Amino acid sequence: MTRSWANPLRDERDKRLPRIAGPCGLVIFGVTGDLSRKKLMPAIYDLANRGLLPPGFSLVGFARREWEDQDFGQVVYEAVKQHARTPFREQVWDRLAEGFRFVQGTFDDDTAFDKLAETVAELDELRGTSGNHAFYLSIPPGAFPVVTQQLARSGLAKPTHPDQWRRVVIEKPFGHDLASARQLNKVLNDVFPEDSVFRIDHYLGKETVQNLLALRFANQLFEPIWNANYVDHVQITMAEDIGLGGRAGYYDGIGAARDVIQNHLLQLLALTAMEEPVSFRPKALRTEKIKVLEATKVIGPCAETTARGQYLGGWQGGQKVPGLLEEAGFDKNSTTETYAAITLEVNTRRWAGVPFFLRTGKRLGRRVTEIAVVFKRAPHLPFDDTATEELGQNALVVRVQPDEGVTLRFGSKVPGNQMEVRDVSMDFSYGHAFTESSPEAYERLLLDVLLGEPSLFPVNEEVELSWEILDPVLKHWQTAGKPEGYPAGTWGPEAADKMLSRTGRHWRRP
Ligand code: BG6
Repeated sequence: MTRSWANPLRDERDKRLPRIAGPCGLVIFGVTGDLSRKKLMPAIYDLANRGLLPPGFSLVGFARREWEDQDFGQVVYEAVKQHARTPFREQVWDRLAEGFRFVQGTFDDDTAFDKLAETVAELDELRGTSGNHAFYLSIPPGAFPVVTQQLARSGLAKPTHPDQWRRVVIEKPFGHDLASARQLNKVLNDVFPEDSVFRIDHYLGKETVQNLLALRFANQLFEPIWNANYVDHVQITMAEDIGLGGRAGYYDGIGAARDVIQNHLLQLLALTAMEEPVSFRPKALRTEKIKVLEATKVIGPCAETTARGQYLGGWQGGQKVPGLLEEAGFDKNSTTETYAAITLEVNTRRWAGVPFFLRTGKRLGRRVTEIAVVFKRAPHLPFDDTATEELGQNALVVRVQPDEGVTLRFGSKVPGNQMEVRDVSMDFSYGHAFTESSPEAYERLLLDVLLGEPSLFPVNEEVELSWEILDPVLKHWQTAGKPEGYPAGTWGPEAADKMLSRTGRHWRRP
């Protein structure tokens, strides 16, 4: 890619200076939404505060509201004050706010998009955004076709000079099954070439997730045992304690598997199970992720190897909470699952015979995301049976959040005259090892969009392969009645426990 602003004296690998985005602007569709206020606007401020945005950076909001630029500015201000990670600095804010613009209109309104094109052109003149613009579609996917067509019609989708760029950023859901994902990709690729489409999976923006690559490929210690000879199984858990109040519009009919397993958990699986890439260039990384996703299949029969649940009312954190069917906006007969667990196999020499158990749920015991690589038992234990009664299986646990870090579990002798072995843990914790706090996933990802750095964004093929993996489960559930109820604050439906106990294993209690 040509970057007219590239500094010939600056080596991109030089870690002393951070990489700063070149002249550019961002247009957000759906500025009034939750994501925009809670994540995008604060992340933009945090980037500005860290000095990572160009001086003339501009932010354009597009929405139906009858707002002036100042009203939009006020909304951003409140979002930043409430949700930004870094301290508020008047000077940074004032400078950033000079680049705010608002365009009022609906998605089918040609005049509004012509106005948007004018606004963007003005910013190029006034603030030196140099024709480089990213369009963030923080809107329901049903609106993607009309918006991308409008961007094409108004000339916004294509740069007018080879040095300039136009990019589109989209959020899941990327369809609701393989067929709809293909259709969606076609709609996007009709207007934006694949290398200018940035699909957000915010899990890839998390430090702890990127650290999986460092853990596996920068160390000698783990890779030799990272395979079917030593690993018994892998558990990938994303548990949340929150319920779905206020999210019926998005969630009802979608459910936990589509919301979380199709994207976040399969990406975590890909990074855990993939082979070493030949380099960390985007293409090399993508090649390995695609290979592993291609090799991943559901283990059946789904009636035994998957589990589905829906939370019931109960007590959580000392508070009485409603069940899903009592949450505002949900169909009283909704069969949407709020808990999903599936069993996968990765058909490669490295992983043959090692099940990967993935689970996610709302209103569970606590909020935690982790990847646990559980090792086989030692083939022989030269102790009395009673000495190792309390010894579990060794495990390496990547703690994605909260309390980010890595835990190694192994057996150790209990002090005393007898030989008794019990599980102990060795911990690495980000909070202790590093003084800097990790940036929010959206800071990293938004900056990467502006830098044109695609490594942390799943491509079309990954999205489609993930649907291919999940589709058989969704199909089975469609005809398998209702999800099983589980009381809020517990660890999911009984079926999930049975799913593991059938194989002689059990879920970790994170
Ligand atoms: C989103 C899901 O992708 O991730 C939400 O749509 C979920 O349902 C959220 O709550 C969780 O993100 P995080 O970063 O808090 O784990």
